[in-house]
Amino acid sequence: MDPVHNKSPGAQNSEPDWRRFFPDADHRWAMGLRRGEAGVFLAPTESSASVCAERNHWLSTEPRTYAVLTKEAEPALAETVTFARSLGFAVRPEQSPRDRSSREESPFDQLLSLGRVWESDFVWLVADKAGTRRVAGGVVCFPSHWDLSEKVGRTLSETHSVVPGLNAALDRQIETFLDKIVPGDAWLRENAGFSRSPEFNQHIKRPRTRLDVSVTVDEVWIRLEHQMLLKLPLTHSILFGIRVQVVPLRQVLNTPYAATAMTRLLSTISPEAADYKGLSDARETIRNISSQATPAN
Ligand code: HEM
Repeated sequence: MDPVHNKSPGAQNSEPDWRRFFPDADHRWAMGLRRGEAGVFLAPTESSASVCAERNHWLSTEPRTYAVLTKEAEPALAETVTFARSLGFAVRPEQSPRDRSSREESPFDQLLSLGRVWESDFVWLVADKAGTRRVAGGVVCFPSHWDLSEKVGRTLSETHSVVPGLNAALDRQIETFLDKIVPGDAWLRENAGFSRSPEFNQHIKRPRTRLDVSVTVDEVWIRLEHQMLLKLPLTHSILFGIRVQVVPLRQVLNTPYAATAMTRLLSTISPEAADYKGLSDARETIRNISSQATPAN
């Protein structure tokens, strides 16, 4: 059987479902959740070899920047490794009966192994003794200007506090949703960002070329985040998966619906949210490029 599922989200060459990324509406922070299949979300794509090679590079050169494991996350790691193996991923150590004498790898090594075989980044939310869910670890090689180690120990509300207006709009809904989801059911959502670089790894500590008024059509990339939320059946920790697909602005402009809806987003996003998305200076330029490409606007 061909193990490559081209329908997996994040396949670099697949045409995105633009309505998910740019809804036909004024900009607002939205839940945008729908049911999905964890096995499909996590399945390898045709870009698997190159994506995993890049993940391996970052996890080998700076493991503690891209992978974080707290004691609290170890049960979630164990459950996730069992789940990944059930999907056919070879997470080390693969212990056969003959191997019994070999030394167990440390949980952190196992975390790195999982981070290398999955194309998706992943983060766990684990409830503390008071029942408050907190970021407890994961592997994030392709962040969109954030740092997993800074978020560890924080609640989702604290994690999202840098996003202007997000908590006021969604914090309660997010926590209620996470309380209620049935263990084993996967939920999907999407998110779109803008960048002057096509690089997957946009860790906040790496140099960044900002979008500004001088930006040209070939210097803008859209970072499409495909996200999955899954409550693990045993630990009830939340596994949050993020797969990044990078597409050039030209691809958006070649799709009339996407170009029109993106222009609407750029026209209606608040100055604070535009600033958070790195669009303060470039918003008008990208909007002009986009509306020239879509004369109907
Ligand atoms: C239903 C659940 C969730 C919703 C609706 C949600 C929504 C959002 C939205 C709308 C943004 C702003 C993105 C943008 O437009 O640039 C955001 C950012 C972010 N979210 Fe979530 N989120 C959810 C769950 C999570 C979870 C489980 C995590 C786990 C760590 C997380 C971590 C983040 C981070 C790190 C950012 C970026 C913050 C930064 O720039 O520092 N989110 N989220």
